[in-house]
Amino acid sequence: MENIRTGSDFLHVGNRLLEWYKNNARDLPFRQTKDPYKIWICEIVFQQTRISQGLNHYNNFIKRFPDVKTLAEADENEVLLYWKGLGYYSRAINIHKAARQIMEEYQGVFPAQYQDILTLKGIGKYTAAAVSSICFGGKMPAVDGNFYRVLSRLFADDFDISNSRAFTYFSELAALVMPDNVGDFNQAMMDLGSEICKPKNPLCGECPINEDCLAFSLQKVTNYPVKTKKVKTEDLALTYYFVHRNGQFLIRQRKDDFIWKKLFEFPSAIPEEMEPFITQSKTITHKLTHKNLSIEIFNVAVSSEKEWNTFIAENQYLITDIQGSHEKSFPKPLENYIQNSLKD
Ligand code: ADE
Repeated sequence: MENIRTGSDFLHVGNRLLEWYKNNARDLPFRQTKDPYKIWICEIVFQQTRISQGLNHYNNFIKRFPDVKTLAEADENEVLLYWKGLGYYSRAINIHKAARQIMEEYQGVFPAQYQDILTLKGIGKYTAAAVSSICFGGKMPAVDGNFYRVLSRLFADDFDISNSRAFTYFSELAALVMPDNVGDFNQAMMDLGSEICKPKNPLCGECPINEDCLAFSLQKVTNYPVKTKKVKTEDLALTYYFVHRNGQFLIRQRKDDFIWKKLFEFPSAIPEEMEPFITQSKTITHKLTHKNLSIEIFNVAVSSEKEWNTFIAENQYLITDIQGSHEKSFPKPLENYIQNSLKD
């Protein structure tokens, strides 16, 4: 649809949203502060994790790493540990790198300008806009899936959100409704998108801007946003061996970027001599964003000390206690497997 909307005709929509936000803002711990460090961490946590799921993680993370300096000085594996259960671990690795970047390039002071914030590792346009608007009065809309959904419905706009120009297009639409207080406006859009203007079963009756919503008046709310391209998912088969003896098992830390970078995993091969120790196998399916994993895990109960020592020596595996395995970060399906093995 051609964008024929101009001027300030839609400013009242933004103002109504602000009014609604004033009375209905969710009471979230990061709403009590304008500390850019805390807002940054919350934006990274909650961009891909629901608030109810990530709130404990956020609070624990902030308690242990209350500022940039503490985080920068921490060991990467400890940071990963505090991310355990949230998934998308590259977020934790990037947060840690960015903290060190702030210490080195910005003398430990979180940068205030949108363009400077954008230079930090793992921070994209959404996060830079959110932090700069909430903490420093920046004027950029924090465009994400909530913005796509709310704005495409508001204007009954069929611009394809899988189009590479969608971000720019919806940023321009946002500018039409955006009031001066962009920090609160951005957060109001986030709350509206997750509480009212939901992807399925939106609560249009309770929406503060339903009178202005074109899709609502056309009774076509769930036709928006329009998305044509389906992201391809690939099937992937993995094999692991849970090699254990006397309450200990063998692991190594992943290095490559393919999946699960820096997390710990089990050996993916064993020599023929160890095959007689296999007692059972289990196949677990697990979904990542663009991958469907089928993971076969063999239980290898090593009864020979000699085989155990040879295998470790030849492969430089780390030995860890099954009981103490919570001190390391494993991919979710392996973590579940370890926990289940404790119950057996
Ligand atoms: N999701 C991500 N950041 C948020 C914020 N600041 N408020 C509400 N939900 C969010």
